[in-house]
Amino acid sequence: MRVVIGSDHAGFDQKERIRQHLEAQGHEVVDVGTSNGDDSVDYPDFAAGVARTVASGDAERGVLVCGTGIGMAMAANKVDGVRAANVTDPEFARLARQHNDANVLTVSGRFISEDVNQEIIDIFLGTEFEGGRHGQRVAKITDLEKG
Ligand code: RB5
Repeated sequence: MRVVIGSDHAGFDQKERIRQHLEAQGHEVVDVGTSNGDDSVDYPDFAAGVARTVASGDAERGVLVCGTGIGMAMAANKVDGVRAANVTDPEFARLARQHNDANVLTVSGRFISEDVNQEIIDIFLGTEFEGGRHGQRVAKITDLEKG
């Protein structure tokens, strides 16, 4: 799967290891930065890069890391076509796919361990949307983009 990833400085270390983890699994990874953990940067810049890549169809899924994952989700969800979920628990990753067809995952680089985040990411990438009654609900989310 083609996966686009990004982080701010607070998520940089985990983002680097997430890239290695995904590549080791055979995923094609596009990394929009940031490029180091020392320089303070603004998370919406990287959320925009990941969100636009997913919305355009250039990547199937996106993964974003910041301190909490919260700001990344807020920013990514401003881009039409993106359904970003901030996830701290593996079961929520499963439900974000099965029920919400989330196409961008945001995780916390400061409060959630690398092991847990990698489990969350594996579930996010490996779980299908259930459709059915959830499909009509997700369609209503998309309708909100039309104002
Ligand atoms: C950066 O200090 C922090 O605010 C950011 O990484 C993120 O947690 C925002 O939601």
